[in-house]
Amino acid sequence: MHVEAREKLYEGKAKIVYETNQPGVIIQYFKDDATAFNALKKGTIVGKGVINNRMSAALFEVLQRARVPTHFLRTLSDREMLCHRLDIIKIETIVRNIVAGSLAKRTGLEEGTPIKQPIVELYYKSDALGDPMLNDDHVRMLRLATPGELAWMKRTALKINSILRPHLARRGLLLVDFKLEFGRRGRKLYLGDEISPDTCRLWDSRSKERLDKDRFRRDLGGVEEAYQEVFRRLVTEPHGPDSGHRRSNAGSRIPLQ
Ligand code: TMP
Ligand code: ASP
Repeated sequence: MHVEAREKLYEGKAKIVYETNQPGVIIQYFKDDATAFNALKKGTIVGKGVINNRMSAALFEVLQRARVPTHFLRTLSDREMLCHRLDIIKIETIVRNIVAGSLAKRTGLEEGTPIKQPIVELYYKSDALGDPMLNDDHVRMLRLATPGELAWMKRTALKINSILRPHLARRGLLLVDFKLEFGRRGRKLYLGDEISPDTCRLWDSRSKERLDKDRFRRDLGGVEEAYQEVFRRLVTEPHGPDSGHRRSNAGSRIPLQ
């Protein structure tokens, strides 16, 4: 059936969500707009919307092949993907493999310190409150998710980490940390939102060069180039042995580990 965008349902900092002519199906439109520090800092990262759309689609497909339920249905265009409509749970789930960002600040540990066992953190998805950190008891008190839902979200976040970490490592990228959002559809939970350099910290495996939104947050320069480099490694390069295509890696410039 032909899909058409209808009413705008929601406009966020980096995406617009549209209703469609199909019930329960939405379009995510990815913008080039970038914000940081709860939108105190604003800018544009040229081409970001295309990269985040294409990269999210590629990673959602990897996760779906590993039986992680995601909202992704299919890519519609450079900046648009078709997704199941979810009732988003107001929790940002963060997984960390290496100390960086707010964890470095909170603990005094140096950025780059490896974490033996991945850490899961929860934040309240509330711009008005500045996304404060929560624990399970706060989630229960605020009725943001049931204990069963929360347990599933944490388990699934770690499963996603165990799938994405080696997938990215094969493409010369260290998955330092990332943010996930989950939502309900009927009685089931799904992964929603996006997976991109906006929502992940990605470092070059060898040089530890930052290839993500921290270049924008911290005024490191080379922001567009970093997004392009991640895109090249993930989407435009010949795929590695887990791509399902079993194509050869000959000609790939990505160091394989
Ligand atoms: P943090 O170290 O600033 O807490 O960030 C942890 C991860 O979450 C990092 O990969 C970036 C991502 N993130 C978002 O996706 N949205 C946000 O608003 C923030 C603060 C972080
Ligand atoms: N997107 C978030 C904001 O504008 C922050 C971030 O990603 O750093 O606040």
